[in-house]
Amino acid sequence: MDAAAVFWALHSDLPREAPGSAATTRALLDLAGPLPPGARAVDIGCGPGRSAEVLAEAGLRVTAVDLHEPFLRRARRAGTGTFPVAVVRADMAALPLREGSADLVWSEGAAYLMGVDAALRSWRRLLRPGGVLVLTDAVWTTAAPSAAARAFWAAYAGMRDVPALVAAARATGYDVLAERLLPDSDWAGYYDPLAAAIAAWPDPDEETAVALAGARAEIDLRRAHADEYGYAAVVLRRGGQQVTR
Ligand SMILES: C[S@@+](CC[C@H](N)C(=O)[O-])C[C@H]1O[C@@H](n2cnc3c(N)ncnc32)[C@H](O)[C@@H]1O
Repeated sequence: MDAAAVFWALHSDLPREAPGSAATTRALLDLAGPLPPGARAVDIGCGPGRSAEVLAEAGLRVTAVDLHEPFLRRARRAGTGTFPVAVVRADMAALPLREGSADLVWSEGAAYLMGVDAALRSWRRLLRPGGVLVLTDAVWTTAAPSAAARAFWAAYAGMRDVPALVAAARATGYDVLAERLLPDSDWAGYYDPLAAAIAAWPDPDEETAVALAGARAEIDLRRAHADEYGYAAVVLRRGGQQVTR
């Protein structure tokens, strides 16, 4: 099996597709401030729908957006909220949603796919004035990462540290309500099920074994270099003026 097929097989049934947890989603929602029941939230790059589920359980009307149909099927089933999760297949860079229609825009581990700066600009328009954007993104936590960490993250040329992420948000016209690094347990929430799927692969052929080893190496890198990079969450209120375009 080629590397892409191995990737999708490993990722077909994971509870989540990025570091995170229900506890973190709830904590970030608290930091977003009080929202009325039935407030409108959009979860962009929702994956299998864990964050959409937590937001729905908190009483929000959630629209979950992704491009990958198998994830959307799972997100559609998400939740025991008052309102069902509405699922939309759309490109995060061209969302078919009205300007100013969201009280809350949410995106865990997905904004980098269109570029965080572009996401900050584009998704701001979805928010009503005073609405809140919560996103998580990979960040450097050292000024001098090892060669191994740099090599792994080389594909993410825009990766920054938390102060630079916060500065970019301010420059785009957001007030920064909170920023935090996700705990190690949130990495385990993503990597432990992935490690189990790798270990459970029955009798891989040579090409498959190489792809599985690559996936395993990502997990091992994090174990060895946890002090060099992390996942940060920022909670941002749409301010009055967009400063950069
Ligand atoms: C790293 S995963 C994070 C998923 C989810 N937020 C989570 O934490 O489990 C990124 C998600 O973005 C989706 N995605 C990739 N490109 C996209 C695009 N252009 N528009 C919408 N979603 C996209 C992927 O299908 C995937 O579900």
